[in-house]
Amino acid sequence: VPVLVLNGPSLGLLGLREPEVYGKDTLADIDELCRSTAAARGLRADCRQSNHEGVLIDAVHEARTAHRGIVINPAGYSHTSVAVRDALAAVELPVVEVHLSNIHRREPFRHHSHVSAVADTVICGAGAHGYALALTHLAHLLEENR
Ligand code: DQA
Repeated sequence: VPVLVLNGPSLGLLGLREPEVYGKDTLADIDELCRSTAAARGLRADCRQSNHEGVLIDAVHEARTAHRGIVINPAGYSHTSVAVRDALAAVELPVVEVHLSNIHRREPFRHHSHVSAVADTVICGAGAHGYALALTHLAHLLEENR
């Protein structure tokens, strides 16, 4: 059973989008990093990206039966979406929230994430490496819960 790696709005433009903030890696590079990090721990990463809140929510619901845990970068929806937060709370899977940038060092409107209250773990400011940390930690949580 795979783990879900879910990326929110505008993360499909990584590499082109504000590289001084988000780094030079593309989403394809990050997906590959996620798959290889997961594989090294005997897991399979199913990587998805959407710009649409409802599509992200549907993916979270689907994960309830199709995945063992979730790594999510909700991007801009972190700061606005009670609905994404509620979906994550509803599925009762281990959740690791990732942000490439250190959201606490940026504009005040980025300091609060609705998702953090329902995440087991939050990783921010580690750039693309944060995804490798997130998958390593998700594997650890899954080991613990066995
Ligand atoms: C982000 C941080 C968010 O504030 C922003 O809206 C993003 C990306 C990050 O990965 O650093 O789109 O989640």
